[in-house]
Amino acid sequence: MNQDTPAGPAPRRLAVRGDLLDFTADPGWAVEPGAAARFRPDHWLLVEDGRVVGAEPTDAALDASWLRVDERGRLVMPGFIDTHVHAPQLDVIASFGTELLEWLETYTFPAEGLYADAGEAVRGSALFLDSLLASGTTSALVFPTVHKVSAEALFEAAEARGMRLLAGKVLMDRHAPEGLRDDVAQAEADCVDLIERFHGRARLSYAVTPRFAATSTREQLAMAGRLCASYPGVYMQTHVAENRAEVRWMAELFPEARSYLDIYARHGLVTDRSVFAHGIWLDDADRAVLREAGASIAFCPSSNMFIGSGLFDWLQAEAQGVRVNVGTDVGGGTGLSMLRTLADGYKVQALVPTLVDGATDRKLTAWKGLYAATRGAAEQLHLSREIGSFDAGTLADFVVWDWAMGPVATRRLEVARGLHERLFAWMTLGDERNVASAWVAGVERYRRPPLAREAG
Ligand code: GUN
Ligand code: ZN
Repeated sequence: MNQDTPAGPAPRRLAVRGDLLDFTADPGWAVEPGAAARFRPDHWLLVEDGRVVGAEPTDAALDASWLRVDERGRLVMPGFIDTHVHAPQLDVIASFGTELLEWLETYTFPAEGLYADAGEAVRGSALFLDSLLASGTTSALVFPTVHKVSAEALFEAAEARGMRLLAGKVLMDRHAPEGLRDDVAQAEADCVDLIERFHGRARLSYAVTPRFAATSTREQLAMAGRLCASYPGVYMQTHVAENRAEVRWMAELFPEARSYLDIYARHGLVTDRSVFAHGIWLDDADRAVLREAGASIAFCPSSNMFIGSGLFDWLQAEAQGVRVNVGTDVGGGTGLSMLRTLADGYKVQALVPTLVDGATDRKLTAWKGLYAATRGAAEQLHLSREIGSFDAGTLADFVVWDWAMGPVATRRLEVARGLHERLFAWMTLGDERNVASAWVAGVERYRRPPLAREAG
C-alpha cells in the first residue's frame, strides 16, 4: 500500500486462506527436502494481533471473530529478506557499460549525492520501501548514503510501514567525491546519535556500514569496530572481494593485511552480526575466518552478473562452513525481486566450476533458495523469532503470490509434476508481477492494482 493509502491497525484476528509454504530448518541441497520444508496446501494461516498463532486445514471451524481473506489457489510465504540492497540506487539500476570501480564513479556516487537533501532522502526512502513491498520483500539490510539524514529518512519510513529494517549511515572518509565524505569525529557522533535514537526502536536495528575498505581510513575502520564492540546487538554490513581490480586496490591500500577480508578482521568487524556482500574472490583462509566468526556472505547474483564481477560458489562456501544469504544489491542488481535474484542464483550456480570434491547435488533447488531468502536470513540475523517463517509467535510478515502470470508460466505450472517442479518453475518464471498482496505484522501494506481481466 502506498503511503497515501494509510493502512489501518492489524485486525485482532485474521485468517488467510492459501497454499502455505515455510521452512522449519535448512533443507540442504537435495531435491527431497525432508521435513525442513513445511507445505500446507489450502490452509488458513491464523494471525492474532499481528502475530502468527498457527495454521489450520480449511475444514476447521472459524467463528465470526476471524476476519477471513480467501486467497485460495495462491501461494502464501513469509516475506522475503533482502540482505544486501542500496536504497538510493533505484536511480542507477540498469546503467550501461562499466565494472565496479568505474560504475561507482560514473553513476553511483553522483546519484547518492542527491541524498544530502532531506526532501530527496524522504522521497527516495518511501519509493524504495514501497517498491520492496511490491516485490514481495518485507525486511532488508539496507545501505542509504553517507548523509545522516538518509538514514533518518529510511528508518522513519520503515517505522511508518511497521517494517523490520536494518540500516546505518554509510561511512566514507576518503576516495569519494566532495559532498560524499564524512570524517571520523563527525561520523562517530552521527552514528552514536542514530544508534541511540533508532536501534531497538519499533522494528529497527542499526548496522554499522563502512561502504568498503577503500573509502574508509584505518582510523574510521577502527571507529566502526569500536561501535560494534560498544553497542550490543548492532550489525555490521560492508562489501568484500567483489571484483578483481577492487581486490588489487585493497592490497595496495592495506599492504599490512593478509587479504581484503583481513582488513575488516583487523578492525573487529568480522562477527556473527556481520554481513559481507559478494565474497567472490575470497580464499580458504578467509572462509575459515568467516566460519569461525559466524559471519555471512550476501550472495548477489544479479549484480555479480550485471557488473561483471564473477561467479560466487555458494556450495563451496557452505562446504567450508560459511553461511550464505541472498541480496539483490540494487542498483548493481537489476531489480528488487528476490524471485528473479534466486533465478539468477540458479544460473550462476549452474555455471560455476564448483570446487567441492564429489559434490553431485550442486544445483540451487527451490528449497534451498527460498529457505535462504526467508528463515535462513532470519537465523543469520538472529531474528528467527520475529521473521522468516510461520512459527507461532513470529510477526505476520507474509506475501500472497500468484503461482503463474501470463500464458507461458500458466502452462508450465499446469504441466509441472510434483511440488519441487512447481516451486522451481514459480521461482524461475516469477517476479514482482506475481505479488498479489504483501502484509506486515498482519496489516496489508501492498495490494496489486486489479488486472484488466479482474477489473473487467
Ligand atoms: N562496493 C562499494 N560500494 C558498492 C556499491 O554501492 N555497490 C556494489 N555492488 N559494490 C560496492
Ligand atoms: Zn552493494
